[in-house]
Amino acid sequence: MKIIASNFKTNHTRKSTKEFVENINKFLKDENIDNEVLIFPTATSLDEFSLVKNLTIGSQNAYYVKNGSFTGEIGTDQLDEFGIKTILIGHSERRHKLGESQKDIALKYNYYKSLGYKIIYCVGEPLEVYEAGLTETLGYIWEQFDGIDLDYDNLILAYEPVWAIGTGVVASLDDITTIHKKIKKKISKPLLYGGSVKPTNLDAILKIPNVDGTLIGTSSWNVEDFKQMIKITKDN
Ligand code: 13P
Repeated sequence: MKIIASNFKTNHTRKSTKEFVENINKFLKDENIDNEVLIFPTATSLDEFSLVKNLTIGSQNAYYVKNGSFTGEIGTDQLDEFGIKTILIGHSERRHKLGESQKDIALKYNYYKSLGYKIIYCVGEPLEVYEAGLTETLGYIWEQFDGIDLDYDNLILAYEPVWAIGTGVVASLDDITTIHKKIKKKISKPLLYGGSVKPTNLDAILKIPNVDGTLIGTSSWNVEDFKQMIKITKDN
């Protein structure tokens, strides 16, 4: 069964997140949808939600501490308050816009692994690497696995080419086919695709071999669009 995840990034308020989550929860119940659905709201919108078992709220980020002096960060004390046990690590915006290094990412990964969190671990190449060719692209992606234990049970991978994120430019079906095949050959974990996924291209993407689901930004922020994409995911 395919997985679908929504990354809110820096969008939605506490109030609109609550409405969104409750709407999706009711939808999954009413439509008897069993697919795994994940939502990653902003840290300020984490809350205690009463949810069907296949709907999970995760954190977009957190530091690799329980608590301490790390201004602007949250740790597991803050996540525990809301029973959060799922986290995104290695997202391209944290790597490229916020300057997280592979070393930091690996420390974060190991910390959350030691606590048994479900980790959605993201990799993907920037445009200049993509343009340099497949060998360079794969080399770049393998380096993003440095320090990452790929045998970890509670791991989901996401391939998100940087140049396809928030740009409206989706990777071609051929590109996704090639990269997913290569990653799956090395790592036998669920593998999501992310990058300009929307209701009109989701079905074709889910039909690609080795695509186990999607991680969606922009087009998932509208609840009706997200519901439509959950339906498409169910039917695949
Ligand atoms: P977009 O769907 O906006 O391209 O974002 C993808 C993404 O980064 C999900 O984590």
